Amino acid sequence: MKIFIDSANIEEIEKYLSFGVCDGVTTNPSIYLKSGVVGGTNSIKQKSLEIANLIAPRPLSVEVTSDCPTEVLSQAREYSSWAENITVKVTITDRRGKPLLPVIHHLISENVRLNITAMLTFNQMVLASKCIESARKPSSPTHFVSLFAGRIADEQGIDQAVRTLEQAAKWLKRNSYTSEIIVGSIRRVENFSSYANTGAHILTIPPSVIGESLISARTKETVIQFIEDSEKALGNINN
Ligand code: E4P
Repeated sequence: MKIFIDSANIEEIEKYLSFGVCDGVTTNPSIYLKSGVVGGTNSIKQKSLEIANLIAPRPLSVEVTSDCPTEVLSQAREYSSWAENITVKVTITDRRGKPLLPVIHHLISENVRLNITAMLTFNQMVLASKCIESARKPSSPTHFVSLFAGRIADEQGIDQAVRTLEQAAKWLKRNSYTSEIIVGSIRRVENFSSYANTGAHILTIPPSVIGESLISARTKETVIQFIEDSEKALGNINN
């Protein structure tokens, strides 16, 4: 299982690269807005290149800013030309619920690496994966399918989120499909362990959740005990 950082914060990404726990980065328009990316395509390009260069060859997901098929097509082509490790995020439907699969199919056939995003059901994942598989060439890169587990859990509870991920992972494997599942919307430390054993390929985790996951009051107590005993032992040797 891989871990992606769900953030555009350069310091946090650098930190988890140095920890050796960052296999990639995901962003979305809300994440970019929060980190001050405003003012159009140039600022999206600047931030995306900064992250892409920092994490290369690991993948960076950058989301298109439109749900109009012709704009999705041209933005996806443009974003993917910025750097080799940029994967373009396209939502499974537009804001009215109309599927964007035709444009997704087209982009996959052009070898644009995609992350089909904002999916909340097993059925969406199956259809997105079928679309990918039917358009990809044998030499195509791996494409991603993002299931927003936290948003599934908000409405239907954590058990349903886990079940959806397990079913999705099992189905992809049984059909020998090549897409990799990214688990999104991870918000709490306990989500990490709930989703890590579902068979999903990637968890994309906000930096705060990774940070909190390393902390345990009992670990601190244990380290204090070892350090104190080391000091006592060293004191004895020195005396
Ligand atoms: C990941 O790819 C998603 O963009 C992100 O995890 C969504 O999280 P949210 O549902 O908390 O906005």
